[in-house]
Amino acid sequence: MRAIRYHGPKKPLQLEEIATPTPGPGDVLVRVTAAGVCHTELHFLSGLLDLGVAPLTLGHEIVGRIERVGEGVGPARVGERVIVYYYSGCGRCLHCLRGDENLCDALRAEHGFVTDGGFAEYVRVPARNAVPLPGGISDADAAPIGCGVTTAVHAASLARVGLGDWVVVYGVGAVGFGLVQVARLRGARVIAVGRTPQKLEAARALGADATVRAGAEDVAARVREITGGRGADVVFELVATRETMAASARSLAKRGRLVFVGYSEDTFEIHPIQLVVGEQSVLGSVGNTLAELQEAVELVAQGRVRTMVDRVLPLERFQEGVDALSGGSLLGRAVLKP
Ligand SMILES: NC(=O)c1ccc[n+]([C@@H]2O[C@H](COP(=O)([O-])OP(=O)(O)OC[C@H]3O[C@@H](n4cnc5c(N)ncnc54)[C@H](OP(=O)(O)O)[C@@H]3O)[C@@H](O)[C@H]2O)c1
Ligand SMILES: [Zn+2]
Ligand SMILES: [Zn+2]
Repeated sequence: MRAIRYHGPKKPLQLEEIATPTPGPGDVLVRVTAAGVCHTELHFLSGLLDLGVAPLTLGHEIVGRIERVGEGVGPARVGERVIVYYYSGCGRCLHCLRGDENLCDALRAEHGFVTDGGFAEYVRVPARNAVPLPGGISDADAAPIGCGVTTAVHAASLARVGLGDWVVVYGVGAVGFGLVQVARLRGARVIAVGRTPQKLEAARALGADATVRAGAEDVAARVREITGGRGADVVFELVATRETMAASARSLAKRGRLVFVGYSEDTFEIHPIQLVVGEQSVLGSVGNTLAELQEAVELVAQGRVRTMVDRVLPLERFQEGVDALSGGSLLGRAVLKP
């Protein structure tokens, strides 16, 4: 089969012919029909995220059809349209027992991170990781649910976004568009921050109450103004450069939560006195649980959350998707169609 292979930091991705996997006991073989390109792919390429596994097929926003099943999996599943849950936890560690599979101490697999992912014609996953997708949404539109929407569902829950909160979404790409909508559904008022006017317009169309143009406006000052001096109860950082982190921290309300979802090579610096006197907290959010993927699928199926797909590209044009993403020219995701 054809697959886009990652060979380690600072090396180009390559389209290669590799063996089609065979489903082992408890597995299914998924014929991939759509796979979203996440910003995390850029961190793999730069080496900022280096999990030490190469060669590897990247791609963790995966939609397809079950084509074969392994021993112990009912043949009735063949033909099912599914989206992949990319973590496969050990099922035994404290985190798995609590349902926090995204924090598992002994992952059996993490598709597109340390286990082959979806930038290929086929991917082999455990049967429970192949989550049925209801109709009414195309494969390409469904792909960004797998990380873009699920990451938003998880981060909003971790930050306890609630009724009447002022929420800043700093960086409106695929995850940011998810957060704008999920925060609104939880009863919050949303301020989207970005540099590209079209992305801010899209954020407004998805429910943002206000937008701030980074670079042209003083973000923290505008957030204070919009919130009547209060500041933001929650700031989601999807960019996390020195400059944006400083603005994010200055935007926080008392008891505000600064949530890192994105990261860059820069380090976060804050004087503890700010956290102390304002009783503020800083937290990180990673991935999502299987239950949160189910929730994300339902939200999109019911039309309560929309994904944004800028373009769909055949697998061999993967570089175009990667370049457009790193150049900042995508309104939402580029989705590969193997
Ligand atoms: N923790 C997790 O589980 C998780 C999951 C998924 C992704 N991530 C991370 O989250 C981050 C966002 O992912 P994504 O896929 O949504 O990325 P993305 O689609 O590239 O979106 C990020 C957006 O940030 C904006 N941006 C860049 N620099 C900016 C600045 N200085 N000020 C304001 N806006 C700026 C860009 O739009 P403009 O054109 O407006 O600049 C860009 O569209 C990445 O770091 C990714 O690795 C983490
Ligand atoms: Zn992702
Ligand atoms: Zn575990």
